[in-house]
Amino acid sequence: MRVVLSIRLATTSPTNSVLIVIAMEAEAKPFVEHLDLLKDDNFFPSHVPFHAFSGTHNGSRVTVVTNGKDHIYETGVDNCGTVPAAVVSFLALEKLKDVPSLVLINAGTCGGFQRKGAAIGDVFLTTGVANHDRRIPIPDFIPYGVGKLDTKVSVLNMAAALGFKTGVCTTGNSLDKTEEDDKHMLANDASVKDMEAAAIAWSCALHQVPYLGLKVVTDIVDGNFATQDEFLENLHTASQSLQKALPNVLEYIVGKQHHEL
Ligand code: ADE
Repeated sequence: MRVVLSIRLATTSPTNSVLIVIAMEAEAKPFVEHLDLLKDDNFFPSHVPFHAFSGTHNGSRVTVVTNGKDHIYETGVDNCGTVPAAVVSFLALEKLKDVPSLVLINAGTCGGFQRKGAAIGDVFLTTGVANHDRRIPIPDFIPYGVGKLDTKVSVLNMAAALGFKTGVCTTGNSLDKTEEDDKHMLANDASVKDMEAAAIAWSCALHQVPYLGLKVVTDIVDGNFATQDEFLENLHTASQSLQKALPNVLEYIVGKQHHEL
C-alpha cells in the first residue's frame, strides 16, 4: 500500500484522466449527453446498482459514475447519502488504480448558506469538506467524526479563472437539518451543504487521489423556504448549469500536473 501511495504522490504526468462522481441521474444526464459519453456495463460488478459512462474530451479520458437506483427497498429512487457515495467512489478508484495522474471531481447540487454569500444557481469549488452529523462525544473520536479534509488542489486560482465561488462543503445524511446540525455546520465554517462530499473525499484520501468538489446551489439552507421544495424547483436548472461548468473545469485541469492546479 505504501508503495502505491508514493507512486501516486510522485506523479509528474499531466492530468489526462478524470473521474466524475455524480450522485443523481438527473444531475448527471445533461453532462453525459453533452459529452456523448457511452455507458460502460463492465465497469462495476454486475450486482451493484452503480452506473459508469466514459469517453474522451479534449484528449482526456472522462469517466462519470452515478449511484443508480435503490433496489433494496424497491423505492426506485436514486441512491443518495454517504454510504453509496463512499462505495461508488471506492470501487471506481479501485478500477482506475493504475491511472497515474487521476483527479476525482465530485459534481452535484448543494444547499448554500446566504450568510457565506451563496445564492441559488451559484457554482462553488470546495476548499475542504467535513461532516456535521457524525457526533461522537468521546475526545479521541471527535476529529474523526468531523472528518475534516482540506482540498489539496488550489481551487482559488481555478475559481478566479472560471468565475466560481469557493468554500467548505459540510456533509450529512439528511436533506433537511436539525438545530444540532446547525451548530456543527457553523463550526465547520460551511458555505455549502450536501450529502456526499466528505464520504467521497475519504475514499480519495485512501487512494491518494486529489479530490475536487464542484457544487451548484439549489436551495438556501439558512433561508425561509422548505429545502425540499426549493431543491425540486431548482434541480433541473442546476443540472444544466453543471453541464456548462464541468467542461470548463475539465479544460482548466487537463494537461496540468497536480501541483500546478
Ligand atoms: N443537495 C441539494 N441541496 C441540499 C441540501 N440542502 N442538503 C443536502 N444536500 C443537498
